[in-house]
Amino acid sequence: MEEALLRIQDLHTTFYTRDGLVRAVDGVTIAINAGESVGIVGESGCGKSMTAMSVMGLLKKPGKVDGGKIFFDGRELTAMPPGEKRRLMGNKISMIFQEPMTSLNPVITVGKQVREALLLHNRHMSRAQAKERALQAFELVGIPDAKKRYGEYPHQLSGGLRQRVMIAMAMVCGPGLLIADEPTTALDVTIEAQILHLMKDLQEEKGTAVMMITHNLGVVAQFCHRLYVMYAGKVMESGTVKEIFADVGHPYTEGLMRSVPDMESKERLYNIRGMVPSMLHLPKGCRFCPRCQYSMARCFEEEPEMYEASPGHFVRCFLYEQGKGEEMP
Ligand SMILES: Nc1ncnc2c1ncn2[C@@H]1O[C@H](COP(=O)(O)OP(=O)(O)OP(=O)(O)O)[C@@H](O)[C@H]1O
Ligand SMILES: [Mg+2]
Repeated sequence: MEEALLRIQDLHTTFYTRDGLVRAVDGVTIAINAGESVGIVGESGCGKSMTAMSVMGLLKKPGKVDGGKIFFDGRELTAMPPGEKRRLMGNKISMIFQEPMTSLNPVITVGKQVREALLLHNRHMSRAQAKERALQAFELVGIPDAKKRYGEYPHQLSGGLRQRVMIAMAMVCGPGLLIADEPTTALDVTIEAQILHLMKDLQEEKGTAVMMITHNLGVVAQFCHRLYVMYAGKVMESGTVKEIFADVGHPYTEGLMRSVPDMESKERLYNIRGMVPSMLHLPKGCRFCPRCQYSMARCFEEEPEMYEASPGHFVRCFLYEQGKGEEMP
């Protein structure tokens, strides 16, 4: 099999807190191929962002990678000296955050910020060339009146425009992988659709691989080839979007799908009963079973592995034990 661009293998990310050990990411295996767009979905607190931050090396103390390996383009990030890793990041992997205001510098004009990002990663580029490229990027991401906007500060821009600046910044360095953590959650639906459209165009045009982290299965359906469903620090289901939407595997994914509002239906919106467990007190056995409508006695005792429900479609649930396969590479 072809080597994936990003391979996260049995990743464990933990926080040692006063109350005990929090296993925010508890053995996650994810592979993203070059040019592929992969969704990571799950309720709040299930470890999506911590998985991304572990890849980027941006975990804040006391968080740390406690086990597992991360490979990018065949090189092991988890074994790389920090300096070398920093050079690779930004150049080859870019990240877009949920709230652009927190990642833009409020006292530097947005144009200059994009120009500086370019200069940082292209040592031979002149300032004038970098400005030219930054302006092109502004136009590419659909910022109207790019020349004027170039000299403005983040607070002078709307949320949608700020997110476009972030995308321009992430894309100018021509990354092989773009990690987008809830890039549109803070925006209204019309702007969200525009931004997703833009990202999809750029992704297809440049062949950039995307890790799209979202609560929203609608975003995944629109944007992604494959998806991983996470729950309480673990991947519960993975497969192509087409397969999972046509034939959902895990009861948790089924719950998530039923929670998506449907404009046509008059039924009350379904809610998965119960809550995400505290990462300090995970239930024994399957971590979803206290909320699961199909749970059997066994689920409260043993933790299921990933079973292959159909080729390339893996589900962490005993209901699929019959078609047992290997863990997703
Ligand atoms: N500073 C911290 N100290 C202790 N635990 C933390 C800390 N930061 C995160 N966690 C733990 O990590 C878990 C996963 O957090 P993460 O931010 O990855 O969730 P998420 O899936 O991105 O959620 P959301 O959809 O709300 O962004 C949390 O449930 C929490 O238990
Ligand atoms: Mg998050």
